Amino acid sequence: MSQGATIVGTSTAQRIRGLEMPWNRVLSTQDQAASAAKALGPWHPQEFLAECVQNIEEAGGLMTFVFRRLDGAPLAFRAGQYLNIAFPVYGEGEDTVDRSYSISSAPTVPWTFNVSIKRDPKGLVSNWAHENLRPGMVLDMLGPVGAFHLGDSDRRARYLFLSAGAGITPIMSMVRTIHSLPGQADVIVLCHGTVPGDFPFWQELEYISKVDTRIKVFYSLGDRDKPKSWKGFAGRLSAKMIDEVAPDANGRKVFACGPEGYLNSAAQLLREVGVDDTSVFMEFFSGDRKTLLEYQKEIVLAESIAEEVAESVEEFYESQPPELGMYEPEYDETGTIEASGQELIAVPADAPVPAAEPAGEQLPPDTSGFETVGEGTITMSFVRTGINVKINPEEKILGAAQRAGVRIGANCQEGMCGSCKVVKLSGEVAMNHQGGIRAREISAGKFLPCCSTAQSDLVIDA
Ligand code: FES
Repeated sequence: MSQGATIVGTSTAQRIRGLEMPWNRVLSTQDQAASAAKALGPWHPQEFLAECVQNIEEAGGLMTFVFRRLDGAPLAFRAGQYLNIAFPVYGEGEDTVDRSYSISSAPTVPWTFNVSIKRDPKGLVSNWAHENLRPGMVLDMLGPVGAFHLGDSDRRARYLFLSAGAGITPIMSMVRTIHSLPGQADVIVLCHGTVPGDFPFWQELEYISKVDTRIKVFYSLGDRDKPKSWKGFAGRLSAKMIDEVAPDANGRKVFACGPEGYLNSAAQLLREVGVDDTSVFMEFFSGDRKTLLEYQKEIVLAESIAEEVAESVEEFYESQPPELGMYEPEYDETGTIEASGQELIAVPADAPVPAAEPAGEQLPPDTSGFETVGEGTITMSFVRTGINVKINPEEKILGAAQRAGVRIGANCQEGMCGSCKVVKLSGEVAMNHQGGIRAREISAGKFLPCCSTAQSDLVIDA
């Protein structure tokens, strides 16, 4: 630097006060934001297809699946949120099994995202995912969903993260997010696990806590015997342990995730050490019926928002003058945006153009020869079973059908699990479900007879 140079501004090193997510500033500006940044928010749930691009085996029986959206868009979410994923456990063409899993990666790297699944030896979906979900597979997803997440900006940014077992996955997203951002933060993580050296993500957590002075990580072995070499805590979460890792716990925002028993005791202990309930945020990784029903409600709501978003995206492209030649994503018949790109098939230039198939009308199945049973003002015709069942408008369809000998599998009987799903070929039903069916399935004619009543005569493919 030449002697006469002037230094503009302050020479004191400065840090951004608190934490601010990168999109926060973009969203608060009035004028045009860069389109990529706009694409990162807002965080409306959407239904989209995502391709698995990598599997990573983690400690503690977890497997991380790395995904990218098939439409090429980044996934906008907040650290801590989850996705509802349709798993083709029973094979192609069969009904999928929907489950919710937290995103473990940070939204600051949104072009791919991770879902980490712990294998439960008795679990249907987790076992299937560990054994079958491989790069190249495409899954239908809905999200982001959930109110358990870091804020878009936090002036104080002092956190205590508590996790037990696989409860670390949304916490990991938070830690990775904070680590990737500048700003003042003060983070204490306390992980409970059972096997020394097998805590999920421990190597990365060790690394982060070494290179990022803002983040400290502690471990406890729960009820297990403490081997001699173990330097962490032993025993269940206690007020003493919280005091030891975070003597100022009552000045921090607490995010806790894990099994129900662990969280119930955490709630009690946090009160004991003076943390106000309003500073505590929890995500249950297993729950009682009430909690599960609440999550189902969240998903049903997310689904209806996703539908609105899909409609408005479609409207936006339709309203653009064709001269602009804008890239228009393609939609499949369920409204999901599809990646474009078609298989090319070489044909001779003079090959005749195939004539269009005559649009023949599908005849309704003839149900006149079916035996008719039951009593009521409405007739339901089950075409595979070959029976007509009479029903009254206030009766549930499933019960009447099963009594008449129609074989329809059913578990929950209240519109949650989706196991009774059937196709309606004609007629109207009123359905009051709890998340056991997706909007695209309803538009494809499916419904759940366990929570539906007949509004008119029906023809059902069962
Ligand atoms: S039996 Fe579970 S949704 Fe109908």
